[in-house]
Amino acid sequence: MPADTTAINKLMDRFNDHSSVWLFGYGSLIFKVGFPFVERRPAYIMNWSRRFWQGSYDHRGTLDAPGRVVTLIPQAGAACEGIAYLITPDILEQIDFREKNGYLRLCTEIAFEDGTVAEGLVYIATEENTAFLGPATELDIARQIAASVGPSGPNKDYLTGLAEALRELGKEDQHVFEIERHLMSMQDKVELVI
Ligand code: SIN
Repeated sequence: MPADTTAINKLMDRFNDHSSVWLFGYGSLIFKVGFPFVERRPAYIMNWSRRFWQGSYDHRGTLDAPGRVVTLIPQAGAACEGIAYLITPDILEQIDFREKNGYLRLCTEIAFEDGTVAEGLVYIATEENTAFLGPATELDIARQIAASVGPSGPNKDYLTGLAEALRELGKEDQHVFEIERHLMSMQDKVELVI
């Protein structure tokens, strides 16, 4: 059973007395916002790579058949592109609930395209969390995503939503795009059979 991280995240109170805080999103927080924000800007954080290595038991899969969603893996020199949202700290409780399946708030430097930086937060599911699935080939990840559905909908919608949002931002992510290519070719084969 995946551990619920809401209680631990509540202890991370560094920004509670700030009037606003930057939150960096790199997965569903890019394409499915669902929370109020003051401003949003394309941004990146350094030394992290986006990977579909986190199991999803509560949104895009079930306990018996977990889906796969993204987390960040440390990688020296890598830039992870996403979107930064300027929010008021009271919104964090809502985001803690949404990210409760293994994600912890981490303080990070967020870089903007105009060269400025700000200190803010990112939610990361580290390999210590019980829902962490770890590496697999892009083909195997695509197969698992194709077969998974959870309360938030089909796992494939998460993948395609993320890939489309990255394309709209004009950003490359080989890992995400390769999984998407495998998924598309699986769907083409199914259509040919039908
Ligand atoms: C994020 O989007 O920043 C965290 C992972 C997710 O909710 O998909």
